[in-house]
Amino acid sequence: MFKHLLAFFVFALQALLAVGYTNPVKEPNGSDPFMVYDKGYYYLTTTTWTNIQITRATTIAGLKTATPKVIWTDSTASRCCNVWAPEIHWQSNENAWFIYYTAGTSDTLDNQRLHALRGSSSDIWGSSWSFAGRIVIPNRDVWAIDGTILTVNSNKYLVYSSWDGSNQCLWISQMTSATTVGNTVKISTPTYSWEKIGANVNEGPAALQHNGRTWIVFSGSSCTGTGYVLGRLELASGADPLNASSWTKYGSPIFTSANGWPGHNGFFSSPSGNSLIVFHANHNTPGACDGSRYTMVQPVNWNSDGTPNLGSPLPLSQNIAEPV
Ligand SMILES: *[C@@H]1O[C@H](CO)[C@@H](O)[C@H](O)[C@H]1NC(C)=O
Ligand SMILES: *[C@@H]1O[C@H](CO)[C@@H](O)[C@H](O)[C@H]1NC(C)=O
Repeated sequence: MFKHLLAFFVFALQALLAVGYTNPVKEPNGSDPFMVYDKGYYYLTTTTWTNIQITRATTIAGLKTATPKVIWTDSTASRCCNVWAPEIHWQSNENAWFIYYTAGTSDTLDNQRLHALRGSSSDIWGSSWSFAGRIVIPNRDVWAIDGTILTVNSNKYLVYSSWDGSNQCLWISQMTSATTVGNTVKISTPTYSWEKIGANVNEGPAALQHNGRTWIVFSGSSCTGTGYVLGRLELASGADPLNASSWTKYGSPIFTSANGWPGHNGFFSSPSGNSLIVFHANHNTPGACDGSRYTMVQPVNWNSDGTPNLGSPLPLSQNIAEPV
C-alpha cells in the first residue's frame, strides 16, 4: 500500500513538473530565434549559418528534446552562406507559408541580402520548400538583414535592418507580393547611448500588436558586447507606417541584461492568443555573436497603460508554466 502511495506521489510530482518548462529551449545554436504556433504545434527556427532548420513540438518543453529538421540548404554562390535569422510567416494573399531569411556569399558578410522560401502546403512541417526569390529593395538594393513582416490594416510591410553610413538602421517597405516590395523608408537610427555600445546598431526588428497598438521591438548596440538590449518604436494610432514621422522611439530600452545579454527577439501567440517573447541570451561576458547563444521563451505582460511589460530575462532555474 505504502509503495503504491509513494509511486502515486512520484507520478503526481512528475505530472506537476511536466506542465512547465525551463529555459533555455535551445542550446547551442539558439541565435536569432523565431517561433510561431500553428494547428497544435510550436515551431522554432534559429540561425545555423549553413542551412535553415525547423524544430516543432506540442509544448515548449517538447522543443528542448525535439530533433530539428533541415528544410533548406543552398549552394547558389550569392546566397549559400551566412544564413541568418529565418522567420516563418503565413501570407494569406498567396495562401502559403513563407520563410524569410538573410544570406550571402561565403567570403564576406558584405553581401548579406533578404531572401524567401515558399512552402508547398498549409502544413509547415509537411511542406517542401522552394526558393521564392530575393527581396530586391527598389530604391536601395544594398546590404539588408533580419527581415520581418508587419501587418497594419491588412497591408503587409517588410521591416529590416541595413547600414546607412556608420549607423545600422531600421527600414520599412510595403509589400506588393510575398517577395516584392515598394521603396524603403528609414524609421529608426541609433541615437541613444544604449543603441551605440560597441557599434551604432538597430537590428532584429519584431512586430508586437495589442489592443490596436503596434510596436516594433528591436535589438540595440553590438551583439559582441554587454550592451545588447531591446528597444521599441511605436506607430502613432491610424498613422501611415511608411511615414518615418509616424514612429516614435521610447527613450529607454524595454529589456536589458539580467541573465545573459538579451537580444534578437520574436513574438508569437499561444493557442489562446497570449503573447510570448522568444529571444536569445548568452553566458559569455562580454556577449558573443556565435552559436553559443541560447533560445529563451517567456510570457509578455501588459501594463495598465496598455504598453508591453517584458520584465527581464527569467533565470534559467525558473519553472515557467506552459502557455495556454
Ligand atoms: C508624415 O507625418 C507627419 C506627422 O504626422 C505629417 O505632418 C506629414 O504630413 C506626413 N507626411 C506625409 C508625406 O504624409
Ligand atoms: C552550431 O553553430 C556552429 C557555428 O557557430 C556550427 O559550426 C555548428 O555546426 C552548429 N551546430 C549544430 C548542432 O548545428
